[in-house]
Amino acid sequence: MSQPRASLAVENGLVLHGRAVGAPGERAGDLYRVIASGVGGTAMPAWKGSLPEDDLWALVHYVDSLVAMRDRAEAAELRRRNEADDASWKPPAPPGEGAR
Ligand code: HEM
Repeated sequence: MSQPRASLAVENGLVLHGRAVGAPGERAGDLYRVIASGVGGTAMPAWKGSLPEDDLWALVHYVDSLVAMRDRAEAAELRRRNEADDASWKPPAPPGEGAR
């Protein structure tokens, strides 16, 4: 018997921000839809029309690769590297202070 899609996605742990984005294989199409159309009523804009189609698909594959990495050692390593980069970042001085 077939499972409802959302519960399949949840079983597979494929949830971004608590929302199911689809089972593997369907995920790229789901990501394309949300990136192209945005999320109505939120700050997430629609990117279709403002980005070339090739760039939209590059973003789809990039986000898809991050979802596929979820809960794996490489994800922990990426987080560690990002946090190390962040640790050395200093906000620019407010106007009138610091470097002249
Ligand atoms: C090209 C850059 C961007 C990409 C690829 C991108 C991608 C995504 C994706 C895939 C989601 C869905 C996550 C899910 O399934 O829950 C999402 C949600 C969201 N994005 Fe973006 N995003 C981009 C830029 C932005 C920008 C510039 C903003 C705001 C200034 C933004 C605000 C949001 C918000 C608020 C949500 C959550 C919407 C909700 O409440 O469901 N995004 N984004």
